[in-house]
Amino acid sequence: MPIRVLFALQTAVMRWIGDFDLTHQIEGSYLQYTDNILGKATPVTDIQDIFKKANVAVITGGASGIGFAAAKFFARLGMSVAIADLGRDRLAAARAELEAIAGVDQIMVVETDVAHKEQLEALERAVLQHFGRVHVLMNNAGIGPETSIFSPQAGWDNILGVNLMGVINGTRVFGPGMLAHGKPGLIINTGSKQGITTPPGNPAYNVSKAGVKVFTEALQHELRNTPGAKIAAHLLIPGFVFTGLTKGDRQEKPAGAWTPEQTVDFMVESIKRGDFYILCPDNDVQRPTDERRMLWAAGDIIENRPPLSRWHPDYADKFKAFLEKKD
Ligand SMILES: NC(=O)c1ccc[n+]([C@@H]2O[C@H](COP(=O)([O-])OP(=O)(O)OC[C@H]3O[C@@H](n4cnc5c(N)ncnc54)[C@H](O)[C@@H]3O)[C@@H](O)[C@H]2O)c1
Repeated sequence: MPIRVLFALQTAVMRWIGDFDLTHQIEGSYLQYTDNILGKATPVTDIQDIFKKANVAVITGGASGIGFAAAKFFARLGMSVAIADLGRDRLAAARAELEAIAGVDQIMVVETDVAHKEQLEALERAVLQHFGRVHVLMNNAGIGPETSIFSPQAGWDNILGVNLMGVINGTRVFGPGMLAHGKPGLIINTGSKQGITTPPGNPAYNVSKAGVKVFTEALQHELRNTPGAKIAAHLLIPGFVFTGLTKGDRQEKPAGAWTPEQTVDFMVESIKRGDFYILCPDNDVQRPTDERRMLWAAGDIIENRPPLSRWHPDYADKFKAFLEKKD
């Protein structure tokens, strides 16, 4: 039997019996090898211990779009849910819908600007006072006003403050308490494909989401190397989702977009599988296309091409051919 099949079988058995720690005691190269075969970057989380009645989820940007869909998903499981967002009226409307699902006692809304660390600290204090502990943290609040390299400072500060520092500070404020209570938990940070393939158009957004990717990778590395840590991190990479962020003047969802609910269903299934990178497709773009686009972006360095060569006229045909190549 080929050695890679043996490794895959052995790892599958270890995962089946739940001995995930064993996998991690084995030499790095072996672990990487088996992980590659199974397509997993993290051990499978026993999600039943986390997404369960009476556990607590905190979601930033939870009053609309993907965050609100996640809040409804967790509320339907009977979890206690705290959403943090801007705007009292929007929060009140979200609260009413969530309370109708889970009951008044299970829902908290806290007006919080994630760009301000002290507001995240106040959010944590309020949630701990009300619900006792946190099992799921979803750092999801995001904005995408247009920027260019030399556009006004305020736009850059705004995007980096919300999309990047909101995620970093959210993790740094809630993480220690989530580790300390010793129960299994998750930190899900919402990134973007734009943080990986970095298309031209909104550099501040791309920089913020590239930062979220790097931060969340480092977070997961640190968590899996922290003895006794029962918290895992995941990077949510939505496709095109019809939300306040993307709808513009449109009232109807474009055919190519997913709904926030589809995105959350995919997120949950991916976490169940143990995927660190939750790379969502949409109705226009399937995973193989994303894979080719990401490979091409990494290839700019390896092949010594100009940056963003995918959008460089000299490389248009080469990129097209690369995209169509199947191996
Ligand atoms: N919709 C997409 O196609 C798409 C694609 C990739 C990534 N994303 C990311 O998904 C996340 C959720 O966005 P969405 O698409 O659901 O859009 P959305 O606008 O519906 O939700 C974002 C929420 O974040 C809140 N928010 C903004 N600034 C905040 C702040 N300073 N403090 C607290 N809350 C704040 C907004 O009020 C809003 O409720 C974002 O991080 C976004 O960058 C979305």
